[in-house]
Amino acid sequence: MKRISIAIDGPAAAGKSTIAKMVARNLNYTYIDTGAMYRCVAYSAFIHGISYEDEAGVVGLLKDLKIKLLPDGSIRLNGEDVSSAIRANEVSMGASIVSQYAKVRSFLVAQQREMAKGGGVILDGRDIGTVVLPDAELKIYQVASVETRAKRRYKENIEKGIECDYEEMKAEIEARDKQDMNREVSPLKKADDAIELDTSNMSLEEVVAHVMDLVEKKL
Ligand code: C5P
Repeated sequence: MKRISIAIDGPAAAGKSTIAKMVARNLNYTYIDTGAMYRCVAYSAFIHGISYEDEAGVVGLLKDLKIKLLPDGSIRLNGEDVSSAIRANEVSMGASIVSQYAKVRSFLVAQQREMAKGGGVILDGRDIGTVVLPDAELKIYQVASVETRAKRRYKENIEKGIECDYEEMKAEIEARDKQDMNREVSPLKKADDAIELDTSNMSLEEVVAHVMDLVEKKL
């Protein structure tokens, strides 16, 4: 059977990675979490005491960064398991800042294209359908109201035992979307040929079933 490339883009906390992981498992495809790669750059700046706003400092770190996305979903940065550390709120905002730098983007986009070579992949991020894989057979632009997204993220954190404040979470999501949509290089936007999917009133199972239907049509 044909092994296609699937792009899922959309704003923060829209549930893209949850859906991408489930669809990848159903199809036996490789899931590539591109957000985790931007988070690794931000995390590296954080541990080296380099300000996210220091473009030259952040770019200077790239030559020594070895990011690996392992098949079990864990993320390695120069051999260290950073899967949890890169999810900290501080790092989310940092990722949104360092992702504005053209050199950071070209460094990561080259690796993403290399990983996606050959198809049988599902990537989620902000610029997959517009920049990373403009020829992807299926492009989805996944959205949900900011309230729905903040509620889902809040619930996730509480279940994991991470303390957080709903209003703060909502404000952080809004700030990150604004920054991601208004940057000069590869801003977040729906690709012309992407299918918009509003999941505000859909269950996880409904979203996965819908995406699987869209995939079937492309095979
Ligand atoms: O998807 P996630 O929320 O983990 O991404 C963290 C940040 O990385 C985003 O807010 C965005 O600024 C950046 N990003 C990006 N392009 C991608 C994936 C993520 O600019 N393809």
